[in-house]
Amino acid sequence: MINETLGIIGGTGWLGGAIAKAVLAKGLVPSGNLIISNRSGNHPLVQQGASLVTDNQDLVDRSAVVIIAVRPEQFTSLNINATGKTVISLMAGITAQAIATQTLAAAVVRAMPNAAVEIEQSFTPWYCSGGVEATTKILVQRLFECVGTAAEVQEEDFIDYLSALSGTGPAFPALLMTALANQAMLAGIPGDIAQLAAKNVVVNSSQLLASRDAQQMIDALVAYRGVTAAALQAMTQGHFEEQIGRALQAGAAVARTGLQA
Ligand SMILES: NC(=O)c1ccc[n+]([C@@H]2O[C@H](COP(=O)([O-])OP(=O)(O)OC[C@H]3O[C@@H](n4cnc5c(N)ncnc54)[C@H](OP(=O)(O)O)[C@@H]3O)[C@@H](O)[C@H]2O)c1
Repeated sequence: MINETLGIIGGTGWLGGAIAKAVLAKGLVPSGNLIISNRSGNHPLVQQGASLVTDNQDLVDRSAVVIIAVRPEQFTSLNINATGKTVISLMAGITAQAIATQTLAAAVVRAMPNAAVEIEQSFTPWYCSGGVEATTKILVQRLFECVGTAAEVQEEDFIDYLSALSGTGPAFPALLMTALANQAMLAGIPGDIAQLAAKNVVVNSSQLLASRDAQQMIDALVAYRGVTAAALQAMTQGHFEEQIGRALQAGAAVARTGLQA
């Protein structure tokens, strides 16, 4: 357990709420050391001992570490002075420099979790700007390990790129699942069976990859020269990997430039 006071601005939203819940469930900080804020003013975590405030400056004044979990377009209206504090931003597309300038924080960490924080299965890359102490880095790592896995990255631009990769969480699998089901239905497979088959591929069969190497799996299936090899070859000939590259670059371009508040 860490004896710092942690404040989460927007601590009742999708990401902020899931992180707040996990931090208490995993015992990272005592419930009395968690302060959350929103504008609408109520949240079930208050029953567990967390404080809920609507004044963000009050939250900042009482916290050693402040997480900003509001939407990027809501950032400029926050109007907080975090002089001397560490601010951890979850906001896509807002630079560490812009956060430091607006909040006056001593150190800014940009972190990019995904929607799977809800089931504690996010991957969260994080980047430190300014003089972040080793003990703070340990706290950041442990904080995001409450909702999955996490790793420090050495360049801020990696956060923008990874916003379009792991930051999208279930988006690519959802697209794949929908495409598989739609194509099966077009081929005459009944809708309920098509949905079950596509869901199995994306959600269940993919669990094998938790303990196996993906490239080795592909190589083995291609070497088998069966049905799967033919399907994978058609994907490769259709420039699947290049399409993925273009998708990631398109997302990263928005993360780099398109979300400035
Ligand atoms: N969702 C994702 O998959 C995802 C992935 C990667 C990164 N992100 C980043 O994570 C951040 C949060 O996203 P989200 O999906 O969790 O958003 P969200 O569900 O809309 O949550 C935002 C929260 O902020 C609160 N809020 C808004 N203005 C506020 C203010 N002035 N003071 C205090 N609280 C305020 C809102 O509550 P009230 O309306 O009650 O104030 C709400 O609880 C975004 O910046 C996004 O870029 C999200």
